[in-house]
Amino acid sequence: ATRKKSGYELQTLTSWLLRQEMKGEIDTELTIVMSSIAMACKQIASLVQRAGISNLTGVQGAVNIQGEDQKKLDVVSNEVFSNCLRSSGRTGIIASEEEDVPVAVEESYSGNYVVVFDPLDGSSNIDAAVSTGSIFGIYSPNDECLPDSDDTSALGSEEERCIVNVCQPGNNLLAAGYCMYSSSVIFVLTLGKGVFAFTLDPMYGEFVLTQENIEIPKAGKIYSFNEGNYQMWDENLKKYIDDLKDPGPSGKPYSARYIGSLVGDFHRTLLYGGIYGYPRDAKSKNGKLRLLYECAPMSFIVEQAGGKGSDGHQRVLDIQPTEIHQRVPLYIGSKEEVEKLEKYLA
Ligand code: AHG
Ligand code: MN
Ligand code: MN
Ligand code: MN
Repeated sequence: ATRKKSGYELQTLTSWLLRQEMKGEIDTELTIVMSSIAMACKQIASLVQRAGISNLTGVQGAVNIQGEDQKKLDVVSNEVFSNCLRSSGRTGIIASEEEDVPVAVEESYSGNYVVVFDPLDGSSNIDAAVSTGSIFGIYSPNDECLPDSDDTSALGSEEERCIVNVCQPGNNLLAAGYCMYSSSVIFVLTLGKGVFAFTLDPMYGEFVLTQENIEIPKAGKIYSFNEGNYQMWDENLKKYIDDLKDPGPSGKPYSARYIGSLVGDFHRTLLYGGIYGYPRDAKSKNGKLRLLYECAPMSFIVEQAGGKGSDGHQRVLDIQPTEIHQRVPLYIGSKEEVEKLEKYLA
């Protein structure tokens, strides 16, 4: 006789991934990469929560390729992420916000996946213990785009091979996700068939499935922009923001919510609806957020939830990256809200 199900069907990220593998939604190699990323996020969650105790607040004393003063936790999180991906043995190339160029992983012996990541997003919030996060995207290798291999003169250097493999449009993403380090530690992921959320149970250090097939509300009266840059925005964008503040017939204007961590602002938008924007401005002509490991993974997730991710004129996922750390303007959230904004920018 088969054991009667207790009805208490708790799923962890590990058991959920194995089920996806059994259903043929994901192969073993990718399952292993995902598990190594979840392991990295658990370690970073613990480091973030104890930052003040273990002297991990404040700056590292170095400047990254973005020109940012690296926080100690930017550097440590980058090492944690890189080490976990290396030890998976299934990662071929990694590209990180905190690495100047993509690196080939020598420990790779099968799978050879390309993983792009922002090891610690919103790191300016660390010292005040405000929500931060990690963002990642996973691609298949893209070697066929290398110059024709029997013409050795054209054959790229190792660095060129890495860049070709990493500079793929978001449409090619196999999986994307983030982990938010907040009042709860929440791991959100899509494999291309819906968006799932797992909450870390500190009692036994496992991510437990808490939301399935998340759908972003079609509209939402919350806007999330750093209005400190208002004076430097394009006129049509200023008009859009001004109109959101008009109470209108309902007598209720939009609400402003801005944490200063993309992961936190995005997660609230995904669940409550609305729009998050990081526009280009007079000082940063392509905005601030990086296409590869911030805008594209978040756009893949939001589209899987029925929302939209745009640079103001086109889908973020259609953009072909030309540089590892290139920036694009980002408008992301409820479909109706993003389309409304695109009309102002047309
Ligand atoms: P990171 O900490 O990974 O460099 O990213 C910071 C980003 C993003 O998290 C956030 O939305 C944005 O910077 C905030 O920028 P402002 O402080 O200019 O608003
Ligand atoms: Mn940074
Ligand atoms: Mn970031
Ligand atoms: Mn970062």
